[in-house]
Amino acid sequence: MKIAILPGDGIGPEIVEQAVKVLRVLDEPFEMEFAPVGGAGYEAAGHPLPEATLKLAQEADAVLFGAVGDWKYDSLDRPLRPEQAILGLRKNLNLFANLRPAILYPELAGASTLKPEVVSGLDILIIRELTGDIYFGQPRGVRECPDGPFKGQREGFDTMRYAEGEIRRIAHVAFQAAQKRDKRLTSVDKANVLETFQFWKDIMIDVHKEYPDVALDHMYVDNAAMQLVRAPKKFDVMVTGNMFGDILSDAAAMLTGSIGMLPSASLDANNKGLYEPSHGSAPDIAGKGIANPLATILSAAMMLRYSLGKADQADRIENAVKKVLTQGLRTPDIFESGCTKIGTAEMGDAVVKALL
Ligand code: NAD
Ligand code: IPM
Ligand code: MN
Repeated sequence: MKIAILPGDGIGPEIVEQAVKVLRVLDEPFEMEFAPVGGAGYEAAGHPLPEATLKLAQEADAVLFGAVGDWKYDSLDRPLRPEQAILGLRKNLNLFANLRPAILYPELAGASTLKPEVVSGLDILIIRELTGDIYFGQPRGVRECPDGPFKGQREGFDTMRYAEGEIRRIAHVAFQAAQKRDKRLTSVDKANVLETFQFWKDIMIDVHKEYPDVALDHMYVDNAAMQLVRAPKKFDVMVTGNMFGDILSDAAAMLTGSIGMLPSASLDANNKGLYEPSHGSAPDIAGKGIANPLATILSAAMMLRYSLGKADQADRIENAVKKVLTQGLRTPDIFESGCTKIGTAEMGDAVVKALL
């Protein structure tokens, strides 16, 4: 089994190194091949997603990805910016289903900024459509405003769009995920304002006919953001579009104590996938050795479960993470008094030790 390892920028290499350590002690015949991506790809090959990196990702059985982006690349033309690497990988590999599980480990109930009683026992799954929506819709750009009071001025524009088949396939993923859990699905939309999301809602209702055992409800995205911090435990599975899912999953991350705890899987129709933490390259803490590697380690566990057929090894990693948290070991983002503050590499070592 071949795993493409793409560390990327900022804290990417630091956190991926910890996940690689963990994969190495599992005693599985994994072949791991590394390639540059993002700003690192631009430096190495003049492009955020070098051809050789894309080819490796296409050929591998799974991809483990760190993070991309750095403020120093913000002035580059958009096609050359680091973020194009992750967008390009998602589009090229057809990774339309992004699973972001927000689970609160009981030991971290005090690490969340929300009251422990609001978050304790939290276990929700956000399913974000990942290859459509305003992220990829054409046309887009800056042009001369054709009408209205600002006619003749420059205007920026993007296009929100979803094809029926795109909505149907993510709906099936969401209903099937709900069937394996508490059988409750909330579709998050903005049908009160946007044509695209009225259409989204209509298709969700239609696909629901094939899953009568799942309870479907609909919520506007603004209310969903509020409910996520008011009473997050009332959700089981949430499904939404690319942009709303991006925003809601960062908010949900804080329910788990830190964005450094939220893993993700991005899957195609055959469960081939790319696995990455939900957070970014955190340039503000890069190089300091203090980033939390657990979201990346938990993403590697998701990779074992969803793409490599090794659910037992995924369980082992998740149990090792629980053990380390029980031991009171914490990176600064999840630190509380009475615990032991450790760095990125020590956290990786602690998970490895818990596995042995
Ligand atoms: P970010 O997620 O990188 O950081 C937000 C905040 O969370 C920062 O204060 C950071 O220090 C903290 N944080 C993030 N991960 C952490 C971890 N593992 N441990 C401890 N603290 C952590 O978001 P941002 O600052 O908005 O973006 C920075 C760069 O990352 C940008 O270039 C952005 O485009 C990029 N980005 C990339 C990805 C990706 O590669 N998939 C995802 C999000 C953002
Ligand atoms: C994420 C990130 C990306 C996104 C960026 C870096 C393109 O925020 O993976 O959540 O918006 O999808
Ligand atoms: Mn994001």
